Amino acid sequence: MKIAVLPGDGIGTEIVAEAIKVLDALGLPFEMESALVGGAAYEAHGHPLPESTLKLAKESDAILFGAVGDWKYDKLDRPLRPEQAILGLRKHLGLFANFRPAICYEQLVGASSLKPELIAGLDILIIRELTGDIYFGQPRGRRTAVDGHFPGAEEAFDTMRYSRPEIERIAHVAFQAARKRSKRVTSVDKANVLETFQFWKDVMTEVGQQYPDVELQHMYVDNAAMQLVKAPKAFDVIVTGNMFGDILSDEASMLTGSIGMLPSASLNAKNQGLYEPSHGSAPDIAGKGVANPLATILSAAMMLRFSLNQEAAAQRIEAAVQSVLAQGLRTPDIYSAGTTKVGTAQMGDAVVTALG
Ligand code: NAD
Ligand code: IPM
Ligand code: MN
Repeated sequence: MKIAVLPGDGIGTEIVAEAIKVLDALGLPFEMESALVGGAAYEAHGHPLPESTLKLAKESDAILFGAVGDWKYDKLDRPLRPEQAILGLRKHLGLFANFRPAICYEQLVGASSLKPELIAGLDILIIRELTGDIYFGQPRGRRTAVDGHFPGAEEAFDTMRYSRPEIERIAHVAFQAARKRSKRVTSVDKANVLETFQFWKDVMTEVGQQYPDVELQHMYVDNAAMQLVKAPKAFDVIVTGNMFGDILSDEASMLTGSIGMLPSASLNAKNQGLYEPSHGSAPDIAGKGVANPLATILSAAMMLRFSLNQEAAAQRIEAAVQSVLAQGLRTPDIYSAGTTKVGTAQMGDAVVTALG
């Protein structure tokens, strides 16, 4: 079981250290190798995703990733910015299926900004297509406009696109996931305006015919954003494109109490996976020892389940997380009166202790 450990920038190093503590405590024969990625790799090697880091990732059974990015790199040419590292890993490893489960643990019902009754018992799964859409479409760039509202003006453009096989494969992932849950899929699109998403909707409907036991509903993304905070428990599996999935998953994270609680798994066709919290490098709190490590620890549990065939160990970690929450331990992002405020490392230590 070879794991590539890529902590990255900002809180990435702090939260990954806690996940490693937890993995170490399981006593399983992992072979872990760390490498630089993002801004840290740019500083050391002049590139956010050095060949050696990519090679390590490709050769591993799974990748545990922290986060990349810092405001100080925002002026770099785009290919050198830290975010290109995670985009490059997704692209080069073909990690097209991103699972972002939004589960509200009962102990955190009070931590969400929504009313408790709206989120108690919440368990939804966002499946985000991760290697297509406007994120990767070409051409893109800046130029002088030849038409539009201001011919002759400077303009920028990106290309939104999806091919049939890209939509089909993520549709199959969603329908198969739904079969193991409540057999309901909501496909989120913008078919009323965008050709790309009319095509998305048509292909979803076609693939859905192969899954007569699964109920398929279509919803426009603006309505979905509203319904997610109006009645989130009405959803079960949500499948959507890369950009809408990015936005809706951050929104859904607050249903769980904090973005520091939302893990993710990004899988390719070989079930090789990259596991990372859904949040970023949080430069505003980096180095303060206050970041919530639970999204990363829960991502490590997903890694054990999906890529390393260690279901029992995954469940041990998830039970340990629930146990520390039941003990009332809270990082500041999920703190509320009557609970005990702890830092990143104390939270990781408590999970290790709770593993038993
Ligand atoms: P962010 O997710 O880093 O932070 C948003 C807010 O949530 C901040 O207030 C932060 O303090 C808080 N937060 C995030 N994670 C937390 C945690 N574990 N515990 C407690 N609070 C937490 O998003 P941003 O501020 O928009 O982006 C910061 C940088 O991260 C940017 O460079 C961005 O491109 C990058 N980013 C990287 C990834 C990734 O590596 N996959 C994901 C998202 C953003
Ligand atoms: C995420 C992040 C990334 C994305 C960025 C950092 C490229 O926001 O993983 O959600 O937009 O996919
Ligand atoms: Mn995001």
